[in-house]
Amino acid sequence: MDQTAKKMSAAKAALEFIENGVVLGVGTGSTVNCFIEFLPSLSDKIDAVVSSSNESTRRLIAAGFKVVPFREVGDLDIYVDGADEATKHRQLIKGGGGALTREKILATASRKFVCMVDDSKLVGMLGRFPLPIEVLPMAQSYVARQVIKLRGTPVWRENFVTDNGNHILDVSNLSIANPPELETRLNQIPGVICNGIFAQRPADILLISGDDGVRRIGA
Ligand code: A5P
Repeated sequence: MDQTAKKMSAAKAALEFIENGVVLGVGTGSTVNCFIEFLPSLSDKIDAVVSSSNESTRRLIAAGFKVVPFREVGDLDIYVDGADEATKHRQLIKGGGGALTREKILATASRKFVCMVDDSKLVGMLGRFPLPIEVLPMAQSYVARQVIKLRGTPVWRENFVTDNGNHILDVSNLSIANPPELETRLNQIPGVICNGIFAQRPADILLISGDDGVRRIGA
């Protein structure tokens, strides 16, 4: 099975978590795009949809949904998103698409966070995928220097501006042996808007799509 087929299977498996009358948060990325394609079949069950990026908003509107600003709803019943890396403890690296800040807000505000990955993204320890950090543009060099002190290798994502008007540093070579601790530590650097470690708020359910079907971790 190729990667696209695996993404489709994971996205299909996520549909079963949508119950009647939900306020649904929608993530960003190619796996989520598959999920959005399937979503119109469940539109009767969905009370309101909140989006984590301009791109997902555009796709949701094209699929016939009205997208509600997050500030106008309370907490989300369910948030569905992909990830760039995941562990069996359901800790994640996200932000390959640059939408990490809004994604983390919605994930944290959700009662149930369902994450869809294909099996190539499952790792023993986070950090093979360069860690995205969203930074305020004026603080970009300062943050990069602080990250180097933590033995990371930051690379500015060129010609990329986030939906929030900020920049992204992609950081390799970090040792992420303790994900919640590093997540907190990076957040304390002035100028960091958000980092792509999702460990303080891991996924509740991880759907891992492989050749033999979709495996589920979590409840
Ligand atoms: C977007 O900023 C990311 O967090 C995505 O969730 C992540 O990059 C997964 O994307 P794909 O589904 O395209 O692999």
